[in-house]
Amino acid sequence: MTYHFTLTTPRLTLRPPRPGDEDDLMAIHDDPEVMRYFSEPAWTDPERPARQIAEDAAAFAAREYFRFAIVLNETGRQIGNCGLFRLHWQNRRGEVGYALNRAHWGKGYMNEALRALLEFAFVELDMHRLEADIDPRNAASTGALERLGFQREGLLRERWIVGGEIFDSVLYGLLRREWESGQAAAAT
Ligand SMILES: CC(C)(COP(=O)(O)OP(=O)(O)OC[C@H]1O[C@@H](n2cnc3c(N)ncnc32)[C@H](O)[C@@H]1OP(=O)(O)O)[C@@H](O)C(=O)NCCC(=O)NCCS
Repeated sequence: MTYHFTLTTPRLTLRPPRPGDEDDLMAIHDDPEVMRYFSEPAWTDPERPARQIAEDAAAFAAREYFRFAIVLNETGRQIGNCGLFRLHWQNRRGEVGYALNRAHWGKGYMNEALRALLEFAFVELDMHRLEADIDPRNAASTGALERLGFQREGLLRERWIVGGEIFDSVLYGLLRREWESGQAAAAT
């Protein structure tokens, strides 16, 4: 199966990460505000972006997971990333994950990027169900998911331990038919 790994939206291009992205990637993940609800602390290791880019590029090649760099067309710079992880091909499901450089929050960029990612997941990869595992206090993230039609399905207690602190998760889900009816409603 040949997939199309460049996704375009009015303001953005989503493409696999590549060497040269290191500084922009670090600027996203060295920010404690961005990483506040992540399952790992803010990045401090200067070698980390290069390692991550190599891992992510290899994962695209192996079809293991797909983390796209989100590039702002106006500047050509990477402002975030979003992807599909923990893919279960037999069950046709995967998990979405995303982060945006804080300077670019509140402008609808992640909404635009995730719309393209959902189309990639449901059309190109033929997924049946997408999930997201979110810290219940992460209002920006739950808002982003709910705007896309994801439903809150349940609370998973004390699921993560980060830096000695214990966190709950809320699980969000979006079924293919729900996404399709959202697409049909948007077209009318
Ligand atoms: C989660 C995260 C990506 C959301 O970013 P965001 O910019 O709020 O997301 P969206 O693209 O959905 O933007 C929607 C906001 O932009 C506003 N907006 C402005 N112009 C817009 C436009 N043209 N279209 C849509 N929304 C627009 C909306 O009103 C909304 O603001 P509101 O939440 O105050 O109502 C961001 O907070 C982040 O990176 N957080 C840290 C990482 C993280 O926690 N990731 C989740 C764990 S996997």
